[in-house]
Amino acid sequence: MDITTDNNLAVSANQLTKHFGSFTAVDRINLNVRNGEIFGFLGANGAGKTTAIRMFCGLLKPTSGEAWVDGLSVNTDSERVKQRIGYMSQRFSLYEDLTVMENLTFFGGVYGLKRHQTDERAEPLLERLELKAWRRRLTRDLPLGFKQRLALGCATLHNPRILFLDEPTGGVDPAARREFWDLIYSLAEAGSTVFVTTHYMDEAEYCHRISIMKDGAIVALDSPSALKSKFNRNSLQEVFFKAVAG
Ligand SMILES: Nc1ncnc2c1ncn2[C@@H]1O[C@H](COP(=O)(O)OP(=O)(O)OP(=O)(O)O)[C@@H](O)[C@H]1O
Ligand SMILES: [Mg+2]
Repeated sequence: MDITTDNNLAVSANQLTKHFGSFTAVDRINLNVRNGEIFGFLGANGAGKTTAIRMFCGLLKPTSGEAWVDGLSVNTDSERVKQRIGYMSQRFSLYEDLTVMENLTFFGGVYGLKRHQTDERAEPLLERLELKAWRRRLTRDLPLGFKQRLALGCATLHNPRILFLDEPTGGVDPAARREFWDLIYSLAEAGSTVFVTTHYMDEAEYCHRISIMKDGAIVALDSPSALKSKFNRNSLQEVFFKAVAG
């Protein structure tokens, strides 16, 4: 199969590798994520998840191997890759001293939207994120769960086909996490592909498929139910422990 011409694939990696000096952070990973899929990217701290995501987003050059995002090579077409994706980084980069609306306007500009486009899209987005009442408030005054929703809004304002969310719910309470996942589902239903990292196993259960990374390599990849039967375990928590212990 020629990956670059398979229109059904949102993200794919072929032997994708990143070295930092003599250290291998991402070690020859292979994966294919289909359009519209919610793909969970799991692994212990330091496993290489963020490094891999930064390569998929065209922000970090691979040492070797290749990845395609929306059919574009991250090695040769990283600028166009950046226009097709939304990226919510692990330590997301909202401006605390700007209001909610000012953050949306700023990120709309970063993603190349004209001011009137941002204004048109901000209204329904604020409604969907339940942030309308907060639009003129300073971002620093928002509860963390609200900031996270705003960061998601900033990453989706330009209607990207593929969303990379790096630990979007870290530190957020269970009810806010649940609401955040409702948003992820509605984005996927509207046709977006969602590539998401998490340390929460209940969230991993919500994904169509997940991969588990250990020391830069992918050691398991399948649907949550298939992984449980493959590893002969009742919960993803136990699958995770078995996969990273092996
Ligand atoms: N710029 C860099 N230079 C050197 N080493 C780096 C660099 N960036 C990441 N690393 C190392 O690469 C490894 C993988 O880091 P990465 O941030 O990708 O892990 P992660 O799976 O996202 O972890 P976490 O769950 O803690 O976010 C770590 O050992 C990290 O220290
Ligand atoms: Mg990380």
